Amino acid sequence: MVHLLFTLLIQALVPVLAQNNPIHVKSCRSYCGNITVDYPFALQPGCGHPGFRDLLFCINDFLMFHISSGSYRVLDVDYAYQALTLHDPHMSNCDSIVLGNRGNGFVVEWWRAPFLNPTQDNAFMLIGCSPESPLFQGFPGKHLPCRNVSSMGCEEYYGCPAWDVIGPKRVGSVYGTGPPECCSVPFDAIRAINLTKLECQGYSSAYNLAPVRAGGPDEWAYGIRVKYSLSGSAAFCTACEATAGSCGYDIDGVNEVCICGSWNSTSNCDSVHTSSGRRTSYLVDTKAGFLISMIVWMYYKR
Ligand SMILES: *[C@@H]1O[C@H](CO)[C@@H](O)[C@H](O)[C@H]1NC(C)=O
Ligand SMILES: *[C@@H]1O[C@H](CO)[C@@H](O)[C@H](O)[C@H]1NC(C)=O
Ligand SMILES: *[C@@H]1O[C@H](CO)[C@@H](O)[C@H](O)[C@H]1NC(C)=O
Ligand SMILES: *[C@@H]1O[C@H](CO)[C@@H](O)[C@H](O)[C@H]1NC(C)=O
Repeated sequence: MVHLLFTLLIQALVPVLAQNNPIHVKSCRSYCGNITVDYPFALQPGCGHPGFRDLLFCINDFLMFHISSGSYRVLDVDYAYQALTLHDPHMSNCDSIVLGNRGNGFVVEWWRAPFLNPTQDNAFMLIGCSPESPLFQGFPGKHLPCRNVSSMGCEEYYGCPAWDVIGPKRVGSVYGTGPPECCSVPFDAIRAINLTKLECQGYSSAYNLAPVRAGGPDEWAYGIRVKYSLSGSAAFCTACEATAGSCGYDIDGVNEVCICGSWNSTSNCDSVHTSSGRRTSYLVDTKAGFLISMIVWMYYKR
C-alpha cells in the first residue's frame, strides 16, 4: 500500500517538477550526415524559424536545400557567418560546362527572399545567353550588367580547361558585334538567376571567402554561397533557448513559438503568462491536487 502511494505521489509530482524546472529535452536540433541542423534551420516541421520552413531535407545522409528553382546539396552550414554553401550538380565549373538549360540557377519564393540571399562575394557566370536575353536589353549601349564580382569574372573564367572544348567566341565586349558568351553578375544586379527567363544555356557560380583571394579560376570555390538572415527575430530564440526551450513556429507557419517540452510558449519557457502556458500548468496542478487528495483520503481510510 505504501509502495502504491509512493508510486502515485511520484507520478503526480514528476510532471509538476518537469513543468517548473527549466530542464527540457532539446527537441529540434538534429543531424544529417555530418552536418548539424540547428536554429534557424530544422528538419522537423514546426521547428526552426518560419522563414526557413520546408527548406531542408535529409535524404540518404545528404542534406538537401529546396527552393522554387530546384534542389541543391548543402555542403556546409556556417552558423558563425550565417551562410550556407550549396552545390548544384548541373552547374558549370572549371572542368566542365553544362549547357542545355539543365542547371537550377537560383530563385527563391517571394516570402523567403528577406531571409536568403547569395552573398555579395558570389559571382554568377551566365553562359550562352541569347542576344534577346533581358540581360542585354541595353545592348549595344554600354549598360551591360556584366561585371567582375569580388575579382572573379568571365575574362578569367575563359582560362579554365572547360572552355578549351567549347571555345569562347569572346564576341560582344571584345569585338562589339554581339553579346558576350559569358556574363558574370552579382545576385543583387538581377535578384533571380532564372535561366529560362534570362534565355541562358548554363551558368557557373563561384564565391570568395574574404579576405582570402583565390589565385586563378582553377582555385575558385565553385558553389553558391548563401547568406541567411533572421530579419531581427534572433532575440526571440535567444530568450527561448536561455530557458532551455527549442525555437519553432506555430501551425500557420508565421508566428514563432518556444517549444518547452510538453507545452508551447509565445515568449519563453519561464513565462507562465501566456494563455497556453497557464492552461497547461493549471491542468497539471489539478491532476496533482487530485492525486494528493486521493492519497490523503486513502491514508486516513486505512
Ligand atoms: C563532412 O564530411 C565530408 C566528407 O567526409 C567532409 O569533406 C566535410 O568537410 C565534413 N563536413 C563537416 C561540416 O564536418
Ligand atoms: C508545439 O509546437 C510544435 C511546433 O508547431 C507542435 O508540433 C506541437 O504539437 C506543439 N505542442 C503543443 C503542446 O501545442
Ligand atoms: C523562370 O522563368 C520562367 C519564364 O518566365 C517562368 O515560367 C518560371 O516559373 C520561372 N522559374 C522560377 C523558379 O521562378
Ligand atoms: C574583369 O577583370 C579582368 C582582369 O582582372 C579584366 O580584364 C576585365 O576587363 C574585367 N571585366 C569587367 C567586365 O570589368
